[in-house]
Amino acid sequence: MAEDIKSTHITWHHGDVTRADRERLNGHKAVVVWFTGLSGSGKSTLALAVESKLFERGCRSYVLDGDNVRHGLNKNLGFSPTDRTENIRRIGEVANLFIQAGVMALTAFISPYRADRDAARKIAGADFVEVYVKCALDVCEARDTKGLYKKARAGEVKEFTGISAPYEEPLEPELVVDTAVETLEESTEKVLAYLAQRGVI
Ligand code: ADX
Repeated sequence: MAEDIKSTHITWHHGDVTRADRERLNGHKAVVVWFTGLSGSGKSTLALAVESKLFERGCRSYVLDGDNVRHGLNKNLGFSPTDRTENIRRIGEVANLFIQAGVMALTAFISPYRADRDAARKIAGADFVEVYVKCALDVCEARDTKGLYKKARAGEVKEFTGISAPYEEPLEPELVVDTAVETLEESTEKVLAYLAQRGVI
């Protein structure tokens, strides 16, 4: 929002190459596919599987992943509510830059707050696909791929989503995949079928 901009005397420059030009060159539309869900629900695994399938089809996409982005762009952020909001705000903006460049942005962040996800949706406009990577907490905890649930239960990791911090389920996601029930192939196919049905690919 304009009133949030600290800089003064800044002008938006328009280029000659439009997003539509870029999409035509790529042979597909650009959308943000926003994967949200608990830690260990399979967001990154699914996003990477979708990315591989899109690549095979000659589609340009890129995965933005919470753990990875927190090593660089967002390395100054922790897991307090304010920091998570800022994490998601930045990713919403980066994802939007990707789609303006004609590239599909596949984001894999817990993004536990509904308001933050809605803000990311607002930035991207109509081209936002929210995928709820559903998986029961006890299943995520049993998987404990990174050993963090154990640490969270022991109080060694604070503000851990699902244990000592909230996760607000999406109310109207475009798509729900249940990784406790579906195979990775099934969930991947669901996402690709949705993108095809929407005319993205
Ligand atoms: S988000 O809530 O701000 O969207 P993000 O997806 O970037 O989180 O990062 C989540 C990842 O950070 C988890 O998959 C986990 O590996 C790690 N992590 C470390 N501490 C926490 C914590 N307190 N809560 C959740 N995830 C954590």
